[in-house]
Amino acid sequence: MAGFLDQIEPLKLAALAELRAAPDLAALEQARVNHLGSNGKFTTLMKQLGALSKEEKPAAGKAINSAKVELESALAQRHNDLEFKAALPKDPADFTLPGRRRVLGKLHPLTQVTDDIVRSFRKIGFVVADGPEVEDEYHCFDALNTPADHPARDTQDTFYLGQTDTLSDKLVQKVSRPLSPGAKLAYEITGGVEYLSRPLLRTHTSSVQIRVMEEMERAGKEPPVRIIVPGRCYRRDNADATHNPTFHQVEGLYVDRNVTVGDLKGTVEFVFKELMGEETRIRFRPHYFSYTEPSFEIDFSSALTRKMGKEWLEIAGCGMVHPQVLENVGYDSEVWTGWAFGFGIERIAMIRYGINDIRLFYENDVRFLKQF
Ligand code: DAH
Repeated sequence: MAGFLDQIEPLKLAALAELRAAPDLAALEQARVNHLGSNGKFTTLMKQLGALSKEEKPAAGKAINSAKVELESALAQRHNDLEFKAALPKDPADFTLPGRRRVLGKLHPLTQVTDDIVRSFRKIGFVVADGPEVEDEYHCFDALNTPADHPARDTQDTFYLGQTDTLSDKLVQKVSRPLSPGAKLAYEITGGVEYLSRPLLRTHTSSVQIRVMEEMERAGKEPPVRIIVPGRCYRRDNADATHNPTFHQVEGLYVDRNVTVGDLKGTVEFVFKELMGEETRIRFRPHYFSYTEPSFEIDFSSALTRKMGKEWLEIAGCGMVHPQVLENVGYDSEVWTGWAFGFGIERIAMIRYGINDIRLFYENDVRFLKQF
């Protein structure tokens, strides 16, 4: 019995020393196996407890158990310490280093210009309207008084999305009201009850004029209609410094009683002064668009145009809404009058910022975008 009790303390101290000195978790595990493992030194001593006499056992058992508790708590403590040490970063932080700067992004220059245009029009009572980029022929051309055989349609040769006979009913707009001469023609040629209008990527935002007026008609709402439509358009153009197959336009439409060219000119002048500077002047030149009559091209003149070596620069198309367009949406053209315009957002941004290649807008080179 005396021999058993005497062995506890030295074995415990040796085990404690090894556990506390373990430099890492692997060494600690080795120390545990050496002493507390199934063949460990301490375990071996514990196994001898069974050989002691009945009188000796209680004292011996108590002594060895308290030693074991001590060892296990030393093991747990060291385990915690080593685990904490392992989780610490290898190189301590250097708080004298300069902080990491988080670079804030900005709106794309085209978005900035669009926002400015929208803000100006909102001041004078216009609301933003939206329409589908996947349009159909009827809304893109026919309803705008541009029938299939019209030369104006060739200049907007576009991305058609398939032939009517291979497309699902969902994609083919069936127009059962052949109102414009073009639609009437197609209607007669197909000899059908319905005119099938192929889906395409819209070539201009003018199609939204039709959609908005149709929707108001359906909802039984009378004019005034006072909308602007910023949006993406598509044409089968080869990309060069001034063209891109994808580009952006803003469309404007105002329909009410007794609307005049004077209203149109005043509105355009107000907005362009806001966009291009207070000393901006505009002029109207006669032009042709099939959905307006009379039609004009708008030129403007400012410090910006003079910087580009020109007094006047062409910037937009506009005119008084053609009576046929109003009739196509079910409006009485004897009662309602209106004007419309459309211009390219890229062109405004290029003039405003002195950008000489339209393709820069789409490359998303941060060195370019950072400048705006
Ligand atoms: N849609 C024309 C284009 O893409 C622009 C335009 C001209 C829109 C005259 C109009 C307009 O609303 O009245 O070039």
